[in-house]
Amino acid sequence: MIPYCSSDSHIERTEKVCRMTIENYRLFTARDIPDLGEKTHVLTGSAWPEFMLQDPLANEYFGRLYVEFPYYQFVLMHPETEEIIALGNSIPLAWDRPAEELPDEGWDWAIAQGFRDREAGLTPTVQCALQVVVKDGWQGNGLSASMVRTMKSIGRRVGLSALIAPVRPNRKCDYPLTPMERYVHWRRDDGLPFDPWMRVHARLGAEVIRPCMRAMYIPGTIADWESWTGMTFPDSGRYVIPKALVPIDIDRDRDQGLYVEPNVWMRHPLNE
Ligand SMILES: CC(C)(COP(=O)(O)OP(=O)(O)OC[C@H]1O[C@@H](n2cnc3c(N)ncnc32)[C@H](O)[C@@H]1OP(=O)(O)O)[C@@H](O)C(=O)NCCC(=O)NCCS
Repeated sequence: MIPYCSSDSHIERTEKVCRMTIENYRLFTARDIPDLGEKTHVLTGSAWPEFMLQDPLANEYFGRLYVEFPYYQFVLMHPETEEIIALGNSIPLAWDRPAEELPDEGWDWAIAQGFRDREAGLTPTVQCALQVVVKDGWQGNGLSASMVRTMKSIGRRVGLSALIAPVRPNRKCDYPLTPMERYVHWRRDDGLPFDPWMRVHARLGAEVIRPCMRAMYIPGTIADWESWTGMTFPDSGRYVIPKALVPIDIDRDRDQGLYVEPNVWMRHPLNE
């Protein structure tokens, strides 16, 4: 059985990953740095628009990742200043069905299911990517590919069969009116995905499985949404908001705003 947390063989295998250096930065997991969650809180917060930090399931579970799945949370650190340059988060899952059946609830499903599987004592089979953040000022240097590679080596070393990822295509926010089902098939002349973040995954061997249309579900009152976006919503209807992949729905009668973010499932085999 592949342990979730702490068996000696697991630690030994994972520590080999931790001792690597990447592009002159040092690599640590939350096992090496027990307060990694707090240490990376600002980095995570600064990477996302405010509304993306309001997903109820993320807020319920994210902090627990560092405590309950410490080997799957890792950072790159500057060797001299000890500044954290990049963060990667993932979770093991007990998924034994075809990848095509991965749920539409994408990210929200994955984070909650990882904890449910653990509580049920199920044996994990795959690793699910939850986040990669490269710190502002360090972006644009190809570090993100190293982060995904490192994430994969963690999963591979603990014997998981695939890294699945509910990928958030990062240029989709420039095309909020394009259906995700079409966007994920846009290609450049060289055959790689049009979207830069999908391209990073594709270059590292991932295939597109299918869009997950309800990957994140973020409700709020009208006042919440006005404060998260800095906009006003005088009428009911759909609104394009900055950095969202699709418009939000505002219902003034029910005092509700709702963002349902679509992502796309991609899959990296780990056992080839
Ligand atoms: C997405 C992110 C991880 C990329 O990290 P990075 O190390 O700067 O990216 P890289 O230098 O490896 O570049 C990867 C690709 O993205 C492109 N890219 C980099 N920054 C970009 C940006 N701000 N907008 C659009 N494309 C960008 C690069 O051109 C490259 O594409 P190409 O080489 O195929 O042309 C980083 O921008 C980030 O942390 N963003 C905020 C959090 C996020 O969106 N995470 C991903 C989803 S979990």
